[in-house]
Amino acid sequence: MQREQWGSKLGFILAAAGSAIGLGNIWKFPYIAGENGGASFIFVYLICIAIIGLPVLIAEILLGRTTHRNPVGAFKALSKSKLWIGVGGMGVVSGFLILSFYAVIAGWSLGYIFEAIAGNFTIFNTGVLAAEHFNTLVSNLPWIIGYFTLFMLLTMLFVYLGIQKGIERGSKIMMPILFVLLIVLMIRGITLEGSEEGIAFLLHPDWSKINAQAILVALGHAFFTLSLGMGAMLTYGSYMSKNDNIPSAALQIIILDTVIALIAGVAIFTSVFAVGLDPSAGPGLIFHTIPAAFAKMPGGYFFSIIFFILLSIAALTSAISLLEVVVAYFVDELGWDRKIAVIILGFVVFLLGLPSALSFNVLADYTIFGKNFFDIVDFLASNILLPLGGLLISIFVGYIWGFDKVLVNLKEGSQNLFDNYPYIILTWKFFLKYLSPILIFIVLLHSLGILDIIF
Ligand code: PFF
Repeated sequence: MQREQWGSKLGFILAAAGSAIGLGNIWKFPYIAGENGGASFIFVYLICIAIIGLPVLIAEILLGRTTHRNPVGAFKALSKSKLWIGVGGMGVVSGFLILSFYAVIAGWSLGYIFEAIAGNFTIFNTGVLAAEHFNTLVSNLPWIIGYFTLFMLLTMLFVYLGIQKGIERGSKIMMPILFVLLIVLMIRGITLEGSEEGIAFLLHPDWSKINAQAILVALGHAFFTLSLGMGAMLTYGSYMSKNDNIPSAALQIIILDTVIALIAGVAIFTSVFAVGLDPSAGPGLIFHTIPAAFAKMPGGYFFSIIFFILLSIAALTSAISLLEVVVAYFVDELGWDRKIAVIILGFVVFLLGLPSALSFNVLADYTIFGKNFFDIVDFLASNILLPLGGLLISIFVGYIWGFDKVLVNLKEGSQNLFDNYPYIILTWKFFLKYLSPILIFIVLLHSLGILDIIF
């Protein structure tokens, strides 16, 4: 059967931006920026995105577009070595793992839409009350498993319908809605009395907080937020046409991802400060502090519904890309039918996610090194497998594939860029070959705790 392609370049960009823009942008970025020095952290983060994010993103899309394969097939097409094929396999495993816990959190977001509609947040006047409500919900097995299941079914539906009819069409509808909802929330936030303090918190630089730890957090986040290191962008790139300009598409994806993270930060912190809540709630910011902030502001009932719809859409378009990596492998390499693959693999991810969902209730006390099952899978995938995958992908494209072949393939669709700005390619080569591998290696050592032992 003929392999599908995106119907248009815009379709690819929206789908890839949909993968990138997710819980990482709306849940994680605001709180890590808040904890690590606001504007100074954002400055460091932008540098990380430019010197690692962009070069690795281009490399991943290029691997996909050249081979028209999933991560395993892509390495198989370019190398005989089992090691490199194994790197593709690691991407598929990461897809399973990340989706299994990502869908649990996304399920909370889905459940919170209905909590907001039922008016259950309007009674909170402190973050503590909202946190208690959150704890009651996640201890309720039918609630947590029910919404996790619903979210998985939604994700499966889009992947089941295929590239153009499912993922592309879904992204073309959902991404514009996401942009509009976020702008509405930002306007609500900045028009609240006292919102300046929130903007100052996010945008006022505090250079004293920029230390090695903050830089490593920024580097690690650059990876997760751009969906790099596990072949999601490679797989999306594999449905791209040879006429499309990869560097320009990659730049657009990065700009969208960054702008959305910044707007989300502004929307969240203006609201939190205007109603006098604690901005440093860390990971609890979204599910504890935000409902309480909405409860206290004019129109909060309406805006809380918008907020959780926004968060759910962002999570859904990312989850779709995670499932697509896994499905593409079984379809391309093992010859499975797409629809059957989606049903079977979606169910496997569901089973794998159950212990993560139970980590917040019945399995909460089962920990290893203080981490429950959810924390372990999250740590293994986000902090180890993604950077390791990214490191090996940059080494493969920088050294193993053969740089003249890399350039020939990259030039397709972007000849003008090469002719007019040859130094851009030289810079990319330098970043990919030298800077990215070294910096990613340091992040990996940090994740494994090896840096702490040395210093
Ligand atoms: N980029 C997504 C986010 O920021 O939430 C998470 C993600 C999606 C990571 C897809 C990796 C991936 F392959």
